[in-house]
Formats: sequence, structure tokens, C-alpha cells
Amino acid sequence: MDQDLESIKQDTLSALDQAQDLRAWDAVRVATLGKSAPLTQKLKELGKCPPELRKERGGILNRLRDELTQAIETRKVVLEERALNEKLNAEAIDVTMPVSVTAGILHPLRRTVEEIIAIFGAMGFKVAEGPNVDTDWFNFSALNIDENHPARADHDTFYLPTKTLDGQQNLLRTQTSTVQIRTLLDQEPPIRIIAPGRTYRADHDATHSPMFHQCEGMVVEKGLTLGHLKGCLVDFLRAFFGIPHLPVRFRSSYFPFTEPSMEIDIGWNRKTGELGGGSDWLEILGAGMMHSRVLANCGVDPREWQAFAFGMGIERLTMLKYGISDLRSFYEGDVRWLRHYGFSSFRSVALHEGI
Ligand code: PHE
Repeated sequence: MDQDLESIKQDTLSALDQAQDLRAWDAVRVATLGKSAPLTQKLKELGKCPPELRKERGGILNRLRDELTQAIETRKVVLEERALNEKLNAEAIDVTMPVSVTAGILHPLRRTVEEIIAIFGAMGFKVAEGPNVDTDWFNFSALNIDENHPARADHDTFYLPTKTLDGQQNLLRTQTSTVQIRTLLDQEPPIRIIAPGRTYRADHDATHSPMFHQCEGMVVEKGLTLGHLKGCLVDFLRAFFGIPHLPVRFRSSYFPFTEPSMEIDIGWNRKTGELGGGSDWLEILGAGMMHSRVLANCGVDPREWQAFAFGMGIERLTMLKYGISDLRSFYEGDVRWLRHYGFSSFRSVALHEGI
């Protein structure tokens, strides 16, 4: 190899060695193999070479070109790997760094829903859902509230100007009891569900909001009695409020879709607001054995299956448990209020931690 070629080789190898990143590497590549690179020029000039020398010289030039191409590719792999490692190091997450626990606060209503789910979940209930925009049939008729029933007027319903394709009047559901119907139509008994969700009634003052939250519950099994309903709700209320001997009273009442029906009160002291003590009662739940007509409306034979249902107001439970006095504050979106009454979203609700 003549002097010229030897120095091209040495210069290229040392330039490659010095190239510390892909940009410098690419400059060496262009300077060695590009159109105006000395080696490329020499290959082009081969044509001018006398034929007897051309073959030998061509072989030498091409071998050098192959050798340098190989060296260039090898260096590329090294530099690419280095670049990747640097990137990974720069992006490494330091798991020992303290996290900011104020990022993301759970609204107290959400917290209550999670607590309800945890307690009923431990009793084998699953969460069911239904649409907020529902129909007259799901909200009333199927629940044994026919067109002339006075309960329709009591609900202050928001009717929508639309009807479904089969002529059902659309409305915003006034109660989560719609989910009883949807679940009975969708699933085969035995069933244990709770259905937390939004409900709507045209009402607005310190204790009523046009949008509020309820949680419905339903159990469909063979041989269910009022005793099961009572046991289930007493257990729930004592776990939710964390008061083992919380007094619970079952008072007979009326709902069109349950028979017998009852309202459930817990003991409290009206003067101090303390739960569990005193001689006053506070209404907290509606419940009852499901009316045979409701089961039949959904194709479930009431002689074979028994069912009970209950419904509760989530705002009410939250206000009592956490001492929140004005219902409207739930919806004002005041971050200072949320910091005070909210919960860290990193703290999960688990029964073994105590609700
Ligand atoms: N849906 C009733 C209400 O909104 C509550 C309820 C649910 C009562 C289930 C009995 C059974 O008032």
C-alpha cells in the first residue's frame, strides 16, 4: 500500500477514535466514504490507470474501503450504545425521592363511595351501573310506580324533551333504583349488587341539590328474609361509622317497589351532633323486601326468588361521618375546602385498616 493510502487509513482510524458522539462520527464517515473523499476520488481515477495496473490497484483500494467501512460501522454501534446508556441514566427515576402527597385529593363523596364499596364488597356485593339519562319505564313504571302514582309528583323529575325509539319518555333518573331493574333484566339470580351513582331532582337549598348521589343495593337469593336485610344493613352502618354498638332502628314506611318497606334510623344526639349516643333518631336509609310485581316485571319468579333492596344518600352519609354542615359545599370546587375535607388519593380504603 502506498504512503498515501496508509495515511488515509491511519487518519480515518484515529479520527474515528476521537469521535465521541454520533455527530462527530458522521463527519468522519462522510470525509472517508463521501463523494469528495480522497479514497472515493482515487477509486474514480482508476479508469485513468493503465490496464495492467488497474486490477491490482482496484483490489487494494476496494479492500481499504471495505476495511474502513467496517471500522466506521463498529464505531457507530459503540457510540449508539453509549448514547442510549446516557439517555437511560439521565431519565432514571429516583425511587427514594419524597413524593408530593398533595397532588390529587380525593373528594369526600368519592371517599364515601369507596368505603361503601369496600364494606359491601367484603359481603360479596359487586358494583353495578346504569345511565344517568334513563326512561320513565326504568325510573318509575318497572318499579311499580304507574302513571297516576303520587310518587311521580314527589320526585320533582327533570324530564327531557326526547323519547326513545320505542316511545319511552327520557328523564334524568331521580333514584338509583333504576339499576335494580337493569340488573334483574341483565343477570340471572342469585345477585348481590350495589349501585352508587348520580341522581337528579329539581330541588335546591342547604339540604337539597338538583344533582346528588345515591347508592342502591339489591340482593336476590332463595329463602331471603327481612332478617337478612336487617343484619346486612346493621353490619354496614356499624362498619361505615366505625361505631360497634351504633343503635339502629327499623321503622315501617312505604315505597312502591318494596313490601314491606322501612326507613332506617341511627341513634344520635341532636344537640351535640354526636352519633351513636343520645336519645334522638336520624333517618339514613330506605329499604324493604322487593315487591313481587317488580320481580315479575323483570321476568324473575317471585315464588322462587326472594329479594331485598335498599337505598341511601351519599351526601347525607358523608356529612354525618365527616361533620360537613352545608350540602352545597360539596359542589363549589373550593380547593381550600377540598384540602380540609378531602383525602389523599394514595390512601386506599381497605377494611383491615378500619374504614
Ligand atoms: N329509591 C328510594 C329513594 O330514592 C330509596 C329506596 C331504595 C327504598 C331501595 C327502598 C329500596 O327514596
